Amino acid sequence: MADFGYDVSDHRDVDPVFGTLEDFDALAAEARRLGLRLILDYIPNHTSDRHPWFRDPARRDWYLWRDEPTNWRSVFGGSAWTRDPASGRFYYHAYLAEQPDLNWRHPAVREAMLDVLRFWIARGADGFRIDALRQLVKDDRFRDNPPNPAWREGDDDYGRVIPRYTTDRPEVAEQVARFRAAVGDERLLIGELYLPFERLVTYYAAGLDMPANFHLLSAAWTAEAIGALVDAYEAALPDGAWPNWVLGNHDRPRLASRVGPEQARVAAMLLLTLRGTPTLYYGDELGLRDVDVDVPRDPWRRRDPARSPMPWDGGPNAGFAPAGAEPWLPLGDGASVADQRADPRSLLALHRALLALRRTEPALWGGGHETVAAGDGVLAYRRGRTHLVVLNLAAERREHPAAGRVALSTGLDRDGEAVAGMLALRGGEGVVLRIAEP
Ligand code: NOJ
Repeated sequence: MADFGYDVSDHRDVDPVFGTLEDFDALAAEARRLGLRLILDYIPNHTSDRHPWFRDPARRDWYLWRDEPTNWRSVFGGSAWTRDPASGRFYYHAYLAEQPDLNWRHPAVREAMLDVLRFWIARGADGFRIDALRQLVKDDRFRDNPPNPAWREGDDDYGRVIPRYTTDRPEVAEQVARFRAAVGDERLLIGELYLPFERLVTYYAAGLDMPANFHLLSAAWTAEAIGALVDAYEAALPDGAWPNWVLGNHDRPRLASRVGPEQARVAAMLLLTLRGTPTLYYGDELGLRDVDVDVPRDPWRRRDPARSPMPWDGGPNAGFAPAGAEPWLPLGDGASVADQRADPRSLLALHRALLALRRTEPALWGGGHETVAAGDGVLAYRRGRTHLVVLNLAAERREHPAAGRVALSTGLDRDGEAVAGMLALRGGEGVVLRIAEP
């Protein structure tokens, strides 16, 4: 594997690194038993260069070939075209050369890839996260992308050109409609789409349940910036569209490293009190930080620090791998799940308390959102008619006018406290207030 499974060579099997199909079946059965839904990562944009399709001379047109490259760049840097020595022609890859892009204009490609969805549904998938969706269809005239005037030497290579003809093409929406038709209305479809809000939200009508909203990943960590972001998203969402917020993922630095460990608690409260479905990256509930990695595993050489093993307990390899085994990446030094379970005020305990509160207070996931303050470190918003969330993103004490009773505070030490007129917050503290009886 060149990209940890994002280079599929067999769509109907599990790589031995991860296990077997029987392991998958056991996982699906256990998830069902626990009442959990199973969402699989579906990778329609490309396959591995080891996939039999790519090696089959009769299927050349299942991929994208040109005699001469265009100026299209790979997300991972360098030209997105690689020369095939046998034919002298170039094939396109939005990511690694080992990940040739499929030609979604070809009906047989579409049929074969829709069959992949059906295969995994029959095996127990409840939904899919669709990888690299904005890249899926490329310009049929292979026009060069326009140069990016804002690009400077030293910036990310991918940004040299504006990916106008390689991403978010109108035909992507047509494929989403096909995905929806293939999976039916009962399965969840999430799209991996790094797009501005006005483009992102068009994918609801195309057939996605949730175009993933990654904007918090790159937002400045200030009350002003986050308040403006939430308002812009809420304003852009079509009627009835269900929101999504992502605070961390396997492609970006760890949350606790990005915003600082002292802000990890308000970040958790933000994520779990915004309207819609929160996406929480494994280990962020423990406050895991980026880990130093001596031997890079990531072909892009930048994502390993956020992919370290989950520290379950104080045993060998933190319970992630048996004694004597070497985990694929080094373990960090953060407190394990077992440590944090034993500590009633841990970050893990806060996540559990927030999730429990969401369950009993529908206003927190489904109620309307109204930002009431976004400045000088304080972000405050009303959720429905019953709750006010006040977050102090500053390191120092802040005050915010409010009245009600504390339902939960990030320090897990103010439950039930009555607030009459003015709410005082410690640096980095957040509070959910119940402001009225329903
Ligand atoms: C997006 C995935 O999140 C990333 O991890 C992967 O490398 C690329 N797509 C290519 O599939």
